[in-house]
Amino acid sequence: MKPNLEAIKYKNNKLEILNQLLLPDSFVYEDCISVEQGWQSIHQMKVRGAPAIAITAALSLACELYHLEDKYSVTGLKKYIFDKLDYLCTSRPTAVNLFKMSDQMKSLIENVVNKDKEIDPKKLKQIFIENAENLLEKDISDNKAIGQFGSECFPLNKKIKILTHCNTGSLATSGYGTALGIIRSLHSNNKLEHAYATETRPYNQGARLTAFELVYENIPSTLITDSMVSFLMKEKGIDGVVVGADRVVANGDTANKIGTYQLAIAAAYHNVPFYVAAPITSIDCTKNNGSEIHIEERPKHELTHINGIQIAAKGIDVWNPSFDITPAKLITGIVTELGVIPKNLDGEFNIKEFLLKKQ
Ligand code: MRU
Repeated sequence: MKPNLEAIKYKNNKLEILNQLLLPDSFVYEDCISVEQGWQSIHQMKVRGAPAIAITAALSLACELYHLEDKYSVTGLKKYIFDKLDYLCTSRPTAVNLFKMSDQMKSLIENVVNKDKEIDPKKLKQIFIENAENLLEKDISDNKAIGQFGSECFPLNKKIKILTHCNTGSLATSGYGTALGIIRSLHSNNKLEHAYATETRPYNQGARLTAFELVYENIPSTLITDSMVSFLMKEKGIDGVVVGADRVVANGDTANKIGTYQLAIAAAYHNVPFYVAAPITSIDCTKNNGSEIHIEERPKHELTHINGIQIAAKGIDVWNPSFDITPAKLITGIVTELGVIPKNLDGEFNIKEFLLKKQ
């Protein structure tokens, strides 16, 4: 059996990340044992995908703390950790997982220091390291639960044809994946007829990464261009669309890879159920609606060039938002590790209520 694909490898206080800029041609792991390496890997998109970004940030700091000389007082160490977390949060702006991880780590450290006035700085480091390590395992088990809940959204009596966008698989998480996890789950339960993946212009996460994962695991699948989705729905009888999320806000509006919004519009027109797969770490109830989400804009050359070769007319202006916001209205259900967040009779999500009930 082939080994599982891993975007993030962590063992004995050493973090390595798969350089996704080189995929699908080369499969190269690089050391990521300092905060600077973590920041650069995320910023340059060697590692990408909302959960993988947060886990890489936490583990790069864990590695740095492991090697840090023991010269800091508890107050000094706490400031060191908080400053590094703030720095890591400047690497990319849209996926909320990074910011939630940082807030959770800060309140963990704060609580520990407040509770135990005598705590040894070495112990404090160890607590951070253990909690960062736990994120890896938790992400995989959450994704498997999402896969299971997601596969139960589809009829039992037929094999499913499903469409996905961007890359939400093992390469975007610590393993298995969210929306791609649902496809993996359907496939392993013998419920998948066919998966379709968009190429996901302009960064091509679909063509380079999702296609790579689908081929790697022999999942029956076909690549299409982003502009083919409406015709695909009309011609092929798609049973559902599953996508990931970089940030789901309190009313269910969802930021995800650019192109997700138009996919949801096409799905609504063709009566195709449209599911967002998102671990709780991707949910941000501090924002009420999608207009409050900061959307990353990326460099022009991602549109004008492919592999360094100019394909667009020289001098043309370019707009390159990396994400868009799909209104909650167009989303059928949000699949989390705690179950599928349903809509009420008014067709609205009440995410806060769902979380209160389940957590
Ligand atoms: O720019 P990227 O490649 O980091 O964007 C990734 C996505 O938009 C994914 O759909 C999202 O992060 C969910 S990954 C489980």
